[in-house]
Amino acid sequence: VDPSLDLFEEIEKLKREKNAIILAHFYQEPDIQDIADYIGDSLGLAQKAKETDADIILFAGVHFMAETAKILNPTKKVLLPDLNAGCSLSDSAPPAVFAEWKKQYPDHIVITYINCSAGMKALSDIICTSSNAKAIVNSLPADQKIIFAPDKNLGAWINKETGRNMVLWNGACMVHEIFSREKIFKLKQEHPGALVIAHPECEEPVLQLADFIGSTTQILKFADTSDANEFIVVTETGILHQMQKNNPNKTYIPAPPENNCACNECPYMKLNTLEKVYLALKYEKPELLMDETLRLAAKKPIDRMLEISK
Ligand code: 13P
Ligand code: SF4
Repeated sequence: VDPSLDLFEEIEKLKREKNAIILAHFYQEPDIQDIADYIGDSLGLAQKAKETDADIILFAGVHFMAETAKILNPTKKVLLPDLNAGCSLSDSAPPAVFAEWKKQYPDHIVITYINCSAGMKALSDIICTSSNAKAIVNSLPADQKIIFAPDKNLGAWINKETGRNMVLWNGACMVHEIFSREKIFKLKQEHPGALVIAHPECEEPVLQLADFIGSTTQILKFADTSDANEFIVVTETGILHQMQKNNPNKTYIPAPPENNCACNECPYMKLNTLEKVYLALKYEKPELLMDETLRLAAKKPIDRMLEISK
C-alpha cells in the first residue's frame, strides 16, 4: 500500500462507493474502532449485522463473529480483513469431539457461547453471549438439565449467579485465563479507590476480586457511569480506547498478566490492521462464505437467542 495514502480517507471513500458498513469489536486496535460505523460486544454486533441494509459488511473482529453475521444476513457480502483471525476459545471445542461427548447427556439442553464455530452452533439448542447468558439460562425451567459450552469460566460464573448446575465443557480463552490474581490484588492495595471490572471469561479466583462483572459493553457502561475515577480493567486491552475517549479524566489500569508478556492482548483480534481493512474493502476479499445447510442449522439456536434478547 502506497504510504502516502490517507487510509482513513480512502476507507471512508470505499464505504460510500460500495455501500459498505464497518462493524468492529471493542478489542480491535484504536484506529479500526475510530473508522467503524458501529462498535459493540458480540450481541450488539450480531444484532447490527442482522438489521443492516448495507451491501457489504466489513467485520473487524474474529472469524466466529463474521460467520455469525453471514448466518444472520446471508445476502450480504461479509468481509473479514484477515481470515486467520480465529479464537482460542472457539478452537477449544471441535464439533466432532463435542458431538461425541454430548451423547452422555441425552436429556440436556445445549447452551453454547457465541464464541464457537458454526459447526458447534449447529449442535446447540440456544446460543448466548456474555451479556445475555444469565437471562438465557433463566428463561429455562429451574429443573431443566443443561450443558454449557465451550467456556468453563463463563459457565461456572453463570452456575454461581443462577444457582444452576450446568454441565461444563472444558474450554477457555487464552487471553482471559492469563490474568494474575496476585498482581490484581496488589494493584487494588496500591489504588484503594479503584474498582475492578472484569469479563466473565476470567477464572473464578480473579472474578472474586471484581466489583463488577460483565460483557465488554456492560463493563464500558459501568466505567462510564460509575462515580469512581479509577478502574482496574480485567479484559483485553482494546476496551480501554473507548473508556478513555468517553471519560478522559478517569484512570484505567489494564490488569497485568502472569508473565511480563503482552498476553492481555488478543493475538487474533490484533491480526486486523487499518491497512488490511482498506485492502479488504478495495478488493472485496477475503470474503466469508459458508455452506447453506450448515448456515441454516447454525441459525436456529442464534434466532432463539435473539428472540429471548429482544
Ligand atoms: P463480548 O464483547 O461479547 O463481551 O465478548 C468478549 C470476547 O471475548 C469476544 O471475543
Ligand atoms: Fe477468542 Fe479470547 Fe480472543 Fe475473544 S479474546 S477472540 S475469546 S481468544
